[in-house]
Amino acid sequence: MKRVSLGGLEVSRIGLGAMSMSAYYTGAGTDEAESVRAIHRALELGVTHIDTAEVYGPYTNEELVGRAVKGRREQVVLATKFGGGISHTGREGVGLDSSPANIRLAVEGSLKRLGTDHIDLYYQHRVDPSTPIEETVGALAELVAEGKVRHIGLSEAGPETIRRAHAVHPVAALQTEYSLWTRDVEEELLPLLRELGIGLVPYSPLGHGFLTGALRSLDGLAADDWRRGNPRFTGENLGRNLRIVDEVEAVAAEADATPAQIALAWLLAQGEDIAPIPGTKRVSRVEENSAADGIELTAEQIARLNDLPAAHGDRHDEIGMAVIDR
Ligand SMILES: NC(=O)c1ccc[n+]([C@@H]2O[C@H](COP(=O)([O-])OP(=O)(O)OC[C@H]3O[C@@H](n4cnc5c(N)ncnc54)[C@H](OP(=O)(O)O)[C@@H]3O)[C@@H](O)[C@H]2O)c1
Repeated sequence: MKRVSLGGLEVSRIGLGAMSMSAYYTGAGTDEAESVRAIHRALELGVTHIDTAEVYGPYTNEELVGRAVKGRREQVVLATKFGGGISHTGREGVGLDSSPANIRLAVEGSLKRLGTDHIDLYYQHRVDPSTPIEETVGALAELVAEGKVRHIGLSEAGPETIRRAHAVHPVAALQTEYSLWTRDVEEELLPLLRELGIGLVPYSPLGHGFLTGALRSLDGLAADDWRRGNPRFTGENLGRNLRIVDEVEAVAAEADATPAQIALAWLLAQGEDIAPIPGTKRVSRVEENSAADGIELTAEQIARLNDLPAAHGDRHDEIGMAVIDR
């Protein structure tokens, strides 16, 4: 597995998102033994970068990751997040709390659940409009100085926030949605990240599973699967968006790869500073997704993928879009 640098932090260029093992998706939390095996298999295959957050579960996903990496901590770049739905200071509302007091409390909980004395990459999960980013990053810089955190990251931060944060302490990575059907990052954010030397961690690189072709209707989804409320999966949009999947499947057939591998290989072709974190709770899919590291798309295949029709529907529902910093 090739490695890339995220602002100085070396990671496998394909990582593993652990979220769906415990939250939001159909089957979450139903087979923890398989989830742990999936993490172990990823490590065997050279995946070093594992992504979680305190809000996944909440808390249970960090606990699961902590159990899985026990005795293997040195092989893993552990990434987790605070301030995205949980306030430990008693703040009311949607839980966007990046106050220094909240960070101090959050980090101790994450360290405990992950069973470690340091977090390799600690992200602000969502920008907190009521705390200046300088105060947040100042608190994170203190955690770096204390050795509790090695690198800091931002998730769904806009250009101005990124610049202000980076001026206080180097930001290693920005995490945002980036995939064949979500390409907004290319216009302004990616050039800015490159100017500042910050890596990009694309989340939901498989379009929440949609780009793999495994999800052509909502029939198999649990009643509480969050995709049932996502605009791209609802109403007429789902059917319209299948045109995108059909084309990804056609390229996959030509390249003798799976659609999931094509979606990942296309992201990898966008640069050496990009490290996607596909999510799965199954060993077989960890194997399939990791193998995308070996796929070289031709210029013609990349051009075909670049020309995919635009997705119908926002990438999050209204509440989700409202907490994205722009
Ligand atoms: N910063 C943020 O705000 C944010 C937001 C969302 C996600 N994330 C991070 O990004 C990670 C990945 O995102 P995600 O899980 O939302 O979306 P994703 O990686 O685009 O897709 C995950 C879905 O695809 C399915 N899948 C995975 N590999 C597959 C394959 N080869 N063939 C068919 N289906 C496959 C998974 O099902 P199975 O599990 O059943 O295989 C799961 O339902 C998360 O784990 C999390 O760490 C961060």
